[in-house]
Amino acid sequence: LLEQSPVRYDENRSCWDVFRYEDVQYVLKNPKLFSSRRNRANRESMLTQDPPKHKQLRDLVNQAFTPRKIEELAPHIQNIADDLLAPHLQQGQLQLVYDLATPLPVIVIAELLGVPSSDRDRFKEWSDILVKGARNDSDEAFQELMEEKDRTNAELGAYFGRIIQERRQSAQDDLISLLIAADIEGEHLTEDEIISFCILLLAAGNETTTNLITNAVRILAEQPELQQQLREHPEMIPTAVEETLRYYPPIVAIGRVAKEDIELRGQQIREGEQVISWVGAANRDEQKFANSDTFIPDRKPNQHMGFGFGIHFCLGAPLARLEGRVVLNTLLRHMDRIALVEGTQLEPIQSAFVFGVKEYPI
Ligand code: HEM
Repeated sequence: LLEQSPVRYDENRSCWDVFRYEDVQYVLKNPKLFSSRRNRANRESMLTQDPPKHKQLRDLVNQAFTPRKIEELAPHIQNIADDLLAPHLQQGQLQLVYDLATPLPVIVIAELLGVPSSDRDRFKEWSDILVKGARNDSDEAFQELMEEKDRTNAELGAYFGRIIQERRQSAQDDLISLLIAADIEGEHLTEDEIISFCILLLAAGNETTTNLITNAVRILAEQPELQQQLREHPEMIPTAVEETLRYYPPIVAIGRVAKEDIELRGQQIREGEQVISWVGAANRDEQKFANSDTFIPDRKPNQHMGFGFGIHFCLGAPLARLEGRVVLNTLLRHMDRIALVEGTQLEPIQSAFVFGVKEYPI
C-alpha cells in the first residue's frame, strides 16, 4: 500500500486512505484543509474542534495538565503497579490485560481527576462504551450503539457535574479543581467544557494506554533477547517505549474531513470526504525509518506518529510514556523471563483504529 497506492479511495468504506509518513504529516499539520469536526457519537471536545476554538480549549486545559504535574505522579504510579502485580508474583502468572494493563490507567485517571477509586469499575465500563466502534454493523446495531453512547455521555455528564459542584464549594488538590481555576485573560472553562474534557480523558486515555502496555510486553515476549538487553540497560526503557509506539502503535489510524477540494499525489479529494491517516503504515515507512520492520530499542531519532502530529498531538503523551516506563521497569525487575502462556491464541481487538489484543497471559 505504501508503494503502490499511497493515497487511495476505498469505495466500500467511502473514505480516502493515506499511508506515507510525509502525506500523513501533511494531513495532520493542516487543520485548515483537514477538519477534526467529524465525531457524531461522543460529546464535542477539543479532539473534535478546529482552530480557533481548539486553541482556546487546549491552552486552558494545558494550565492544569502540565508535564510537571504528570511527572509528580511517578512514585504514585509505581505504587499502583506494585500493588496490582503483588498478588500474581508468587504464582508467576499474570493475565496482563486484566490484571495490570487495564486497571492501571483507569486508577491513574480516576485519581488524577479526583474521583473515588471505588468508582473505577464504572469508569472502565463507561470508557469501554465510549471507544466502542461501529464496524460493518447493520443500521439497527449502529443506532443502538449511538443510543448507548448517548446514555453513557448523559450518565457521565451528571456524574462529573456533581463532582464539579462539590469542587466549586471546596477545591481539592486534583485536576477538576485546577480545570475550574484555569484562567486566560479572564476566560474560564464552562461546566460543559470541563465535563467534556473529563469524558475525553476516559475515552482517550484508558484503552490506548492499556494497549501501549500490552503491545510493549508482547514485543518483549516475541523477541526475548530484548528482555536481557533492557534489564542490563534500563536507561533504554524510555526509548523502547517510544519504539513500541512506532512498531505496534495503539492507535493506527486518525480521521479527518476535507474542508475543500484537495489534490494529493495526483488524487482528487473532494470537500466533505473522509480522509484516514494511517499512522500504523507511516510508522513503517522505510523512507522515514531505516529498517522500519525491526524493533530497535534505542532508535534515535524516532519521530513516530503514535501520538499523532500537529495541534492535536496527544495531550496525555507524558502520562502514557510514564505509565509505559513504570510498567516495563517493574515487570523486568520482578520477572526473570516474560513469555506468552503456551497455546494462547491471540485475538485482536475488533476495531479499525485500535491495535491490540484482547488477552495476553504471561
Ligand atoms: C489526542 C494517542 C494516551 C489524552 C491523541 C491523538 C492520538 C493519541 C493519536 C491525536 C488524535 C487526533 O489527531 O485526532 C494516544 C496514545 C496513548 C494516549 C497512543 C497511549 C499510549 C492518552 C492519555 C491521555 C490522552 C493517557 C490523557 C489522560 C488525549 C487528548 C487528546 C489526545 C486530550 C486530544 C488533544 C487535542 O485534541 O488537542 N492521543 N493517546 N491520551 N489524547 Fe492521547
